[in-house]
Amino acid sequence: MEDRLLKDKRILLGVTGGVAAYKAVVLASRLTQAGAIVDVVLTEAATRFVTPLSFESVTRRRAYVDMFELGDNDRPGARPGDVSIPHLALARGADLVIIAPATANTLAKLAHGVADNLLTAAVLAAPAPLLIAPAMESHMWEHPATQANLAMLQARGVTQIGPATGHLASGATGVGRMSEPEEIIAAARLVLARHGDMAGRSVVVSAGGTREAIDPVRFIGNRSSGKMGYALAHAARDRGAQVVLVAAPTALPEPYGVRLVRVESASQMRDAVLAALEGADALVMAAAVADYRPLQPSEQKIKKAHEHLTLELTRTPDILEEVAALRAAGRGPRVVVGFAAETSDLLANAQVKLQQKRLDLIVANDVSVPDSGFAVDTNRVTLLYADGTIEPLPLMYKEEVAHIIWDRVQRLW
Ligand code: C5P
Repeated sequence: MEDRLLKDKRILLGVTGGVAAYKAVVLASRLTQAGAIVDVVLTEAATRFVTPLSFESVTRRRAYVDMFELGDNDRPGARPGDVSIPHLALARGADLVIIAPATANTLAKLAHGVADNLLTAAVLAAPAPLLIAPAMESHMWEHPATQANLAMLQARGVTQIGPATGHLASGATGVGRMSEPEEIIAAARLVLARHGDMAGRSVVVSAGGTREAIDPVRFIGNRSSGKMGYALAHAARDRGAQVVLVAAPTALPEPYGVRLVRVESASQMRDAVLAALEGADALVMAAAVADYRPLQPSEQKIKKAHEHLTLELTRTPDILEEVAALRAAGRGPRVVVGFAAETSDLLANAQVKLQQKRLDLIVANDVSVPDSGFAVDTNRVTLLYADGTIEPLPLMYKEEVAHIIWDRVQRLW
C-alpha cells in the first residue's frame, strides 16, 4: 500500500558486502511498493552476495556499482543522450540515504570521508540525511575502531538502526544482525518526518477504552479499539511532532517513534495525561474514558453465590474538565480537542460537551452506524468549534480523519 510519507520520495539505498544484503532486496521492494523512488548502489563486495539485477527487478530502476560508468541524465531539462556523473546525479536528488547492510568497512570509510567507491562518493556528495543499518560479526561490532567510527557518525547526526541480537552468519548468537526491513522503514519514516509541518511541536494523545476493576479478574470496559487515537499519534509523528500516546489496553501493535504510556483505568489515565501535558502544545482525548467505576472493587474474585448482584458505581475524574481548570489558571496546552461518541442527538450532545469541557474543538462521532466509530477502520465525523462553526466530514479512513484534525489544530495554534 502507498505511504503518504514515502510516496515520491527519492531514496538512495546503499548495499554493502554482508550476508544480510539479501534482506536489502526485500527492503528495496517494500520501499518501492510504498511509493518511493529507490536508486540502489551496491559495493563490489555486495555483488558477491546479491546482483544488481535483483534490485533492478524490484525497483524497476537501474542499480549502480561502477563509479566510472556514466549514467543516463534524467535531470529536468536534460536532452536525449545527455549523460550524468553517477555519484553526483544520485546524490543530488536524494531525500534520504539508507545504507543497509552497513559493514564495518563502510562505516570506517563514512566516518573518515573516504570516497573510493560509488556509494561512499555519493554519500559524501549527498546533502540528504543518512540512515545506517549496521550488520557484522559481534567482535567486529564491539571493536573499539568500529565503535569510534560510529560515535563520529552519530556526532554528525547520522541515524542508526540496530544491529539486533540473534543468529549470526558465523553460526554464533550475538549482537550484529541487521534490523528487519520493517524496522528500517519505520526508522526511515521517522527521519523523513523530521521536517514536517508539526516539527518542534509536542502533543499528547489518549487512546483506547479504559478498564475499571470489579474484582481481580473482571472489569467494566467499552468497545473502543484505540484505532482513532493510534491514527492520531501516527499522523502527528509523521509530521514531525513529539508524541506522547497515553493508551488504555488495545490489541494494536506498539507504535514506533512515539512515547507510549500504558494505563488501565480512568484514574491512571488522568495521572498520565496530566503528567504528559507539561510543555505540550495540544491534547487530543480520543480515549473512551469510563464515566463510572465500581465504588469498592472486590479484593477476591466474586463468587456466584446469589441470584442477583448489585454493583455500586461512582464517578471517575473527568480529565478534560481538569484540563479546562488548568487552562483557566493560565496553564495547560494551547489547544484541546475532545471526542463525543454518541448514539443519539449527536450534534446537540457534542455541543454541550464542547462548552462544558471548554474545548477548542470536539469531534462528534455517531457510533450507532456500522461504518463509523468503534473497531472499524473508517469514520464519519463532524467537527464542532468553540466559535460555533460546524464542519461535517465525509466517510473516510481514520488516518485521513487524523490528518484533518491536525490540520485544524495547526490553524488553532
Ligand atoms: O463526557 P464524555 O465521556 O462523553 O466526553 C467525551 C470526551 O471527554 C472524550 O474526549 C473523552 O476522552 C473525555 N473524557 C475525559 N474524562 C472522562 C470521560 C471522558 O476526559 N472521565
